[in-house]
Amino acid sequence: MSSRILGIGSYLPPKVLTNADLERLVDTSDEWIRQRTGIVKRRILEQDSDPTIMGIEASKQALKDGGISAEQLDLLIYATNFPNMISPGSAPFLAQALDLGQIPFFDLKAGCSGFVYGLVVANGLIDAGVFERILLVGSEALSRVTDWKDRKTCVLFGDGAGAVIIERAPSGEGVLGVSLHADGKKAHLLRLEAGGIQIPVSHETIDAGRHFFKMEGKEVFKSAVTMMEFSSREALANAGIELADVDWIIPHQANIRIIRALAQRMKIPMDQIIVNIDRVANTSTASIPLALDEAYRDGRIKRGQILVLTAFGAGVTYGAVVMKF
Ligand code: ACO
Repeated sequence: MSSRILGIGSYLPPKVLTNADLERLVDTSDEWIRQRTGIVKRRILEQDSDPTIMGIEASKQALKDGGISAEQLDLLIYATNFPNMISPGSAPFLAQALDLGQIPFFDLKAGCSGFVYGLVVANGLIDAGVFERILLVGSEALSRVTDWKDRKTCVLFGDGAGAVIIERAPSGEGVLGVSLHADGKKAHLLRLEAGGIQIPVSHETIDAGRHFFKMEGKEVFKSAVTMMEFSSREALANAGIELADVDWIIPHQANIRIIRALAQRMKIPMDQIIVNIDRVANTSTASIPLALDEAYRDGRIKRGQILVLTAFGAGVTYGAVVMKF
């Protein structure tokens, strides 16, 4: 294992949507949302804003934080569930905006685990000597695929982006252990059905609301806790790191009850778990880099500390990365 996070950045669109705002849209209450999810507010990308703006701003910050220029990058990985276009995705638009020249790029689709998957892919490519410095972006405009009449989903999501620069590191620094898993039998739990090859968009699919993101929330909830616990423990074992030596766990921010249950099962106090779901809700692939960036900037997370990043999401996918930050 031989790569580390050189620079980090994030972006949240300015528009805030509170639980009180949602009370005016659907039959819900601030109390229900807070108690059942831990969410108080979320950011929403303005309807007339280009979603690329989020990745651009996060990436610029990460480059600045890492003290390098875009010309020094040699790969872009863009983790997202819902790309700018089905084809050619999202990465080309960011590459164009950042003027990345002829370096390769690709979209990575691994549900909300996209950022963790991206870290493992980037680490592997650097370890194999293929690339030196990789920009990994997690960006999601979930508001664009949310059914604002469905109270079961619309209260859960927010928009945002996070980005990291990953570069070769001396052994013993950066990524120390990883764990990636998935279970295709659970593909039906989280889905946006229409718009792909299987179910192209038609008047019928739009009338049936099949262009919106849907999920079996209860089923996802049950799997999420065990999956993140399993992967976190496996990545720690692969890294040869004891739980007692972990400074912070940064879990995917999907529901505060999932995060609390994870803390309980791992026997880690909540004050060692980074939580920002109250302010940003579930931002999918942006969730972990947003939380990491925030805690790094406010001084909670420090260089040299041991972090566990863990996520689960559509697919279903799950995984964890243990790193010396
Ligand atoms: N406001 C008020 N009531 C609501 C709301 C709401 N927003 N949403 C649901 N309810 C009602 C339901 O209709 C139900 O009423 P009923 O008993 O009369 O039928 C009741 O509240 C309980 O609903 P449940 O679905 O059982 O509520 P639960 O406690 O399971 O919480 C939730 C639902 C928040 C979705 C939870 O299951 C969850 O967090 N699941 C995981 C979601 C997740 O992690 N997704 C991650 C992936 S997202 C991605 O990949 C982009």
